[in-house]
Formats: sequence, structure tokens, C-alpha cells
Amino acid sequence: MRMYDLIEKKRDGGELTEEEIRWMLQGYVAGEIPDYQMSAMLMAIFFRGMTDQETSVMTDAVAHSGDMVDLSPIEGVKVDKHSTGGVGDKTTLVIAPIAAACGVKVAKISGRGLGHTGGTVDKLESIPGLRTDLDMREFFDAVNRTGLAVIGQSGNMTPADKKLYALRDVTATVNSIPLIAVSIMGKKLAAGSDAILLDVTCGSGAFMKELDDAVELAKKMVQIGEQAGKRMAALITDMDTPLGYYIGNSLEIIESVEVLKGRGPEDLREVCLALSSNMLYLSGCGSLEECREKAREAIESGAALKRLADMVQAQGGDPGYILDTDRFARAPYCGKVTAPRDGYIVRMDTAGCGTASSMLGAGRVTVDSVIDPAAGIILKKKTGDAVKAGDVLAELYTSKEELLADAQKRYLEAIAIGDDRPCEKPLILARVEGGRAEIYQP
Ligand code: URA
Repeated sequence: MRMYDLIEKKRDGGELTEEEIRWMLQGYVAGEIPDYQMSAMLMAIFFRGMTDQETSVMTDAVAHSGDMVDLSPIEGVKVDKHSTGGVGDKTTLVIAPIAAACGVKVAKISGRGLGHTGGTVDKLESIPGLRTDLDMREFFDAVNRTGLAVIGQSGNMTPADKKLYALRDVTATVNSIPLIAVSIMGKKLAAGSDAILLDVTCGSGAFMKELDDAVELAKKMVQIGEQAGKRMAALITDMDTPLGYYIGNSLEIIESVEVLKGRGPEDLREVCLALSSNMLYLSGCGSLEECREKAREAIESGAALKRLADMVQAQGGDPGYILDTDRFARAPYCGKVTAPRDGYIVRMDTAGCGTASSMLGAGRVTVDSVIDPAAGIILKKKTGDAVKAGDVLAELYTSKEELLADAQKRYLEAIAIGDDRPCEKPLILARVEGGRAEIYQP
């Protein structure tokens, strides 16, 4: 087989066979196919797309390109949740403890921040002492004892995705629905859970800007998971505005704890209830309504908050930070961003808000950047809010004063103020299960 012929076939709209796809990925991971040929293939896929058969085979090949996690040492139903990424998206920190408090196991392998989006592993590492590099024995043990654990991806999981993602990142081929489906579902299948809930974000802070594209991606990923024998569903959630009011690593832990204490902002609470009830539903805990009631009860009784504190302790962290979030160190420098005029916030470039947070030290500018756990943004106004000139729109926090000015400028650029209050949008835009999409958007 020759890579040249496969590129030519895909370029001309042909369908790659299973044998060709497996040969190509094995050769690429082994270093036998060079980046320039794989780049050409990715661009051909970007323009020509992939059939369902090609997408399923490529996902399976990515999943099997490295270690497959066998979660059988963990008793009971194991449920996973994956978000396609967002800003202020801290839902894992709330819903994994809720699911565990309701008797379901969450053995989660999470990522670090990527571009303007945050990552659960970076957030958890802002808790002093907490380790996200547990070995598999420690991981299984922690889940069996506390019902949940969250670790980073180990060295040899889905090496094909690591190489392909890095190449897509520099060849303008990230935003392809089949390639995103392959990348996400390859990792999810390798991670070994029985049930997977997908949170496909949609809007200015997400990969998918349009609802139609988000639904198409969700349907594709649900189908791939079902073919692999997993129980699957997806929610399409709004990411046209940051989720909640806190962006940044320790700031997002603090806001998650607020929700687990029965407080916190309405939008974050609502999205967390929707996601956790769907996780419980997929795990066989009852109807969606019954599961929502169970999730609510896990918050009200304090059982979910206790699970988070137990998880932190089991992973070597100090649970005192969960029980009293005032213990988190505050960043020494704060700069405010104020409204330049009267009006309403009509739009937020949510990716821009995430970039401003990264610029303060909350994310990585280069792969070697050291994260500032206390850096980030506290929003004071969001889309739909009325503002007067001089009102504080957001407070920006950092440990390096010299980073403030550029981040303030970037944040202000991300906010559009107009004369008329924009229409409200639902937080949950659609739900996908069994090949069907229920759209909640008017
Ligand atoms: N997240 C992933 O893991 N992969 C993609 O391709 C996009 C988002």
C-alpha cells in the first residue's frame, strides 16, 4: 500500500477501506508515514468528509493505538462525561460527585486546558497536594473507595490522537466534524466506561458555532459509541456566554463548591442538574425526572459535596480546601474592566474571554507555560445584563501585574454593548439519543 494512493483516493472523494485506514494509522504512529503526507490526508478529509463506516473504523484504530483501560476491577456501572470544551466549563467538578453520591462510579480520565478552553486536570491541581497522576491500581482503589476519581491521560493512551491532534492544530484541520468525532470518541472508547454522556458545547466559546453542526457532531459520536456497545446520549449546551461567573483554576473549584452547597449561579446549577440527571439515566437509575430528583437530593443533603472532599483526600489533596474555599490563595493583583457606555451586553466573544483568562496565567501560552492557579476572571455582567458607563464588567486576577493591561484590553474587545436587550436562549439547546435529536431552541 502507498500513502500517496490513499491521499489521492480521499482527495477525489473516494471511501477508504478498513484495511487502508488501519494501515495508515499504524504507519503514522510508527513514524513510517511522514507528517507532510498525513497533513495532506487530513486536509483531504477536511474537505471531503468521511462516511460513517470510515469514521467508526478510524475511531476504533485511534482507540486501539495505545493502552485500552480495563475498568473491570471497579465494581458497578461506570459512567463518563465528556465536554467538547468551553470557558468557565467546570461541570465535571459538580456532576461527578453527584453521580458518585447516587451510587454510580465515575473513573474519569480528563485533559488539560487547550487554547482558550480550561481543563479539569489543571483545575484540580490548584488544590494543594492533589495528584492527577495516580497509577491504575491507585485509580481503581480510589474509585472503589469514594465512587469517583479524576486523573490525567497516561503516557501511552491513544498515541494516534496525540500525534494527529498536534498536526491538526498547526494545519488548520481541527474544525472537521468527523475528525473531532474520531479524536473524542477514540479517547472515550480507550477510557473504558460503560456509559458515556457527551456535552457538545455550541456558540462563540465552542468548536461548534452553529446548532446544526453541534447536532451533527453529537449524532455521529453517539452512533460511534453505540456501535461499540456503550450506552450513549448527548446534550447540546450553550457556550455563547461563559458558564457561571468564575473563569480560572482555583476560581472554578470555588464556584463548583458553591453549587454543591446548593448555591452558585443559576446557569451553572441548571446545566449541572441536566448533565448529572442524564448520567444517572444512562446508568440505569430511573427515568430522567427521577434522576433529576436524585441529583437535586444529592446536593441538598450535602452528600455530593462530601464525595468531592473524599475524592480530594483519596488523591492526596487537602479536603479542607473544599470545606472552606477561603483557604485558596487569592491572586495579589486585580484589574477591573468597565463599561465604556450605557446599554445592554448584546454579545460576548466567549473564546476571547477565555483567551483573556489564559493571558492572566490561567492557561498555557506555550506547552511549557506554568499555570498560575489563582489567575482568572470574575464576571460581574453577562449577556443580557443592562450596564451603565463605568460599571464593572469583570475583575481580572493575576500573580503578575505586568499581564493585566493586555488581558484587560482583550476582555473588553470580547464584549459588545448595544441598545436593545438580546433575546434569551435556552441553556440546553438539544438532546440526542438513539439517532434522534430533540431541539429545545425556539
Ligand atoms: N477535543 C478533542 O479531544 N479533540 C478534538 O478534535 C476537539 C476537541
